[in-house]
Amino acid sequence: MTSEAQTKASMDKMYRWTRHVYDASRKYYLLGRDRLIAGLKPQDGEHICEVGCGTARNLIKMAQAYPKAHFYGLDASDEMLKTARASLQKAGQGSVPLAQAYAQSFDPAKLFALEVPLDKIVFSYCLSIIPPWRESIDHALEILPVGGEMHIVDFGSMDGQPAGFRKLIFWWLSLFHVYHKPEILDYLQRLQLEKRGTLQVKHLYRGYTYLAVFKKV
Ligand SMILES: C[S@@+](CC[C@H](N)C(=O)[O-])C[C@H]1O[C@@H](n2cnc3c(N)ncnc32)[C@H](O)[C@@H]1O
Repeated sequence: MTSEAQTKASMDKMYRWTRHVYDASRKYYLLGRDRLIAGLKPQDGEHICEVGCGTARNLIKMAQAYPKAHFYGLDASDEMLKTARASLQKAGQGSVPLAQAYAQSFDPAKLFALEVPLDKIVFSYCLSIIPPWRESIDHALEILPVGGEMHIVDFGSMDGQPAGFRKLIFWWLSLFHVYHKPEILDYLQRLQLEKRGTLQVKHLYRGYTYLAVFKKV
């Protein structure tokens, strides 16, 4: 089995049943997602893809907040995409295209018949679950045009949180193959030093979450 097929099998296994309670449970600990959406501020007509879109919770909110932009979603898990499709339909956003694909290798032109590049790529609590996170960032940077942006929200260092809570949350996250990866921000900073783009980072909720925007130059 290829590593992408292994990812799909493992994500399908993890989300086959939990997708039914995903939105209700995750709203308590996937913090900062609405801050990311508020910060997107697309121009009319922009094309924006959420990578690892899960249940489409964010896609629905983004499409409602910015009706003049075009949204797309992809996920490694067909199980998650079943819930995403049903949720988009229910929210009256059934025209948002979805596809099964991988963060590190997706081709928006093929998946969504797009004739122009994506303007923005969203990673919401996604890079922390993806072993090839570096390849995923490199891939996004490669396919974005100059001026295009990556918007990232994910688990932070929890530095300002009590030690007991920090230990508990990292243990809980590991049950879902999710790991805080300080090396992601280090890598984005290195890309900025190499003049590949500009980076803005905000740490929220005593280090629980970070928001990062990387703009390609
Ligand atoms: C923790 S969920 C986040 C879902 C959504 N972005 C949100 O904020 O609610 C992570 C998602 O990433 C997907 N995923 C994991 N590895 C992936 C990969 N290599 N490429 C694309 N999606 C992936 C999982 O199937 C899952 O739906």
